[in-house]
Amino acid sequence: MNLQDIFKLVEQDFNAVNHGIFEQLHSEVPLVEQIGQYIIDSGGKRLRPLLVLLSTRSLQASVDQPTRLLAAVIEFLHTATLLHDDVVDTSDLRRGRPTANVNWGNAPSVLVGDFLYSRAFQMMVEIGSLEVMNILSQATCVIAEGEVMQLTNVRNPDITEAQYMQVIHGKTAMLFEASTHAAAQLASEDETAIQALKTYGSELGLAFQLIDDYLDYAGDAEALGKNLGDDLAEGKPTLPLIQAMAVGSSEQQQLIRQCIRKGGRDQIEEVLNVIEVTGALTYTQAKAQQHAAAALAALEPLAPSTAKEALMALAQIAVNRDR
Ligand code: IPE
Ligand code: IPE
Ligand code: MG
Ligand code: MG
Repeated sequence: MNLQDIFKLVEQDFNAVNHGIFEQLHSEVPLVEQIGQYIIDSGGKRLRPLLVLLSTRSLQASVDQPTRLLAAVIEFLHTATLLHDDVVDTSDLRRGRPTANVNWGNAPSVLVGDFLYSRAFQMMVEIGSLEVMNILSQATCVIAEGEVMQLTNVRNPDITEAQYMQVIHGKTAMLFEASTHAAAQLASEDETAIQALKTYGSELGLAFQLIDDYLDYAGDAEALGKNLGDDLAEGKPTLPLIQAMAVGSSEQQQLIRQCIRKGGRDQIEEVLNVIEVTGALTYTQAKAQQHAAAALAALEPLAPSTAKEALMALAQIAVNRDR
């Protein structure tokens, strides 16, 4: 099953969710709506709403209005983090377009990010489940902590792989986990199944971010819709660099350490060469593959269904993707 087949499976519900997302963007303040629409309309993959719909279906439940709202809420939370993230990361390109911070500046991006967060919480109230509120409010705290933890490690070449994993667990895996966990909570009372989907989401999110960090060096900017080398430019120590420092020669280590300390793109070619020849890129992909395998294994308790097969296929797509 490819991504297109998977979207086809939940097409009607997906279109309803997408419609709901645009409706909920409405604001009396023109700039809020303008920036909100700009980023939402620029065609993100919508993976997290997809996870909500598939999780529900994999539990043999039907997608009702609270579930559709949940899918929209998750995409709002995701979009809010992207608006903030591009300010913090000083990124210029997102979803194939100039970032909101390039077009409107940092302040409007941060404030509209806040609006999206707040609107998401209004919609959560409408969902009317205290369990879901609990999952999502905890998740948003952990995501913010993950981003701050990452910030405190910018230009730090001494970060360990374990610390890096903690960062990506917070900033990325948590929202994947919240998507599948909250959907399962709405759809079922079977604790084993809920736990299975929760673990699946978390492992999938780790695989997803590992590949994001791989693609920042080895991807294709056109396909990705983001600039390559943003992480190095910022002095962000991701796994390709951490692993290269762990196994490289002392000259290779020194080069990477200096680049993390300085930031910038001047030595990107040298760095690319080092992370290639030390096997650090392959290592990062292999780690992603391990987490994708763990995601797959987590689904084992679920009864067979097409939605379950789609979730299984997504685990592989997360690793093999180019966007
Ligand atoms: C980008 O997420 C942020 C990360 C967690 C790497 P996506 O790659 O899902 O972004 P969009 O929504 O498709 O643009
Ligand atoms: C993911 O990290 C950020 C969030 C979870 C908001 P990145 O900073 O690597 O994401 P991209 O590469 O900008 O999409
Ligand atoms: Mg970023
Ligand atoms: Mg990235």
